[in-house]
Amino acid sequence: MIKLHDKYFKPFISAQQINDALGRMANDIAQDVGDEIPVFIGILNGSFMVVSDFVKKFPKPCEVTFIKLASYEGVKSTEDIQRLIGLTQDLTGRTVIVLEDIIDSGNTLAEVHRIFKNEKVKTLKIATLFYKPEAYKKDFKLHYIGIEIPNKFIVGFGLDYNGLGRNIPEVYQIKETQHMTNFVLFGPPGAGKGTQAEFLKQKYNLVHISTGDVFRYNIKNETALGMLAKSYMDKGDLVPDKVTIDMLNAEVEKNADANGFIFDGFPRTNAQAQALDRLMDSKDSQINAMIALEVEDEILVERLLKRGKTSGRPDDADKSIIRNRITEYYNKTAILRDYYSTQNKYFGVDGVGSIEEITQRLSAVIDAL
Ligand code: IMP
Ligand code: MG
Repeated sequence: MIKLHDKYFKPFISAQQINDALGRMANDIAQDVGDEIPVFIGILNGSFMVVSDFVKKFPKPCEVTFIKLASYEGVKSTEDIQRLIGLTQDLTGRTVIVLEDIIDSGNTLAEVHRIFKNEKVKTLKIATLFYKPEAYKKDFKLHYIGIEIPNKFIVGFGLDYNGLGRNIPEVYQIKETQHMTNFVLFGPPGAGKGTQAEFLKQKYNLVHISTGDVFRYNIKNETALGMLAKSYMDKGDLVPDKVTIDMLNAEVEKNADANGFIFDGFPRTNAQAQALDRLMDSKDSQINAMIALEVEDEILVERLLKRGKTSGRPDDADKSIIRNRITEYYNKTAILRDYYSTQNKYFGVDGVGSIEEITQRLSAVIDAL
């Protein structure tokens, strides 16, 4: 991963893949030009590396030149009117091949065509190393395409992000999510996860995703998902994975520019932990830690009964349901400690003490991540 200015980028296309693509393009073009001596025209700035590497592979005589498109100064227009710098050569009757680094919307290409309309070239062909089909809005034919890529911002091999990245010999793609600190807040029912998550989300500007809260909201509003979840939660059982994972995905996508997430109430099983890893991986991110609040059973029962008197949560009102939830927690989820321990991501924190004390203990762990 690299950082340019404020953005993070991940490796995307290797120098070898670029080399192979340019080799194919050089061979195809060499075949097509026959006995003509083509004039290759690079569009500066981005294409300097493409042109340099391409012409070294071109097995026949050729000419090489560069042009630059620059916006007219002082012209105020929504259409960015371009002017051409550098075309000093007479191209009458010549086979001209424009070499582009990347074709995105095709606006640059439209300018190139506009400019070449007055040149009496024999043929004008377009070659581009990278092409974003989903972004392309024009009808101009692209004669040679190196590599088709999705509509995501890339840097390297001549391409820049605000001036940086042109010198990188391979290509990096912008990360779906930027740098995040994500952790799972873990602990038996009544350990104080919700309370602590409130403090931590403000302190670190994180998004708190409490699966329990989201389900309770759905139940209160009697949504289909809520009714389904209710039947499980009333018994002190877990809600099915598929429902929960889809919901988490939506929450993460809603907050793609967040500093990070606090997952609370999920994962509770190995399968869920793996699903969460896959989810975060698909967002170019990861779980940095599992932080577990450790509290003895008797204290938990006491706390939950007290909460049941004011919260109205039916699963907090009954001692045997509470014990069932705690037992289930240890039976099914203690295994997660191993899952995260083997990745050196498990941190146990003493969950008994004042709220401030516990927040401080948690902060010490987060600050060290
Ligand atoms: P166009 O939208 O096809 O006109 O492309 C305009 C210009 O935007 C290209 O010549 C590049 O300089 C720049 N550009 C488009 N996509 C990218 C990208 O993913 N990374 C870096 N520059 C890009
Ligand atoms: Mg360009």
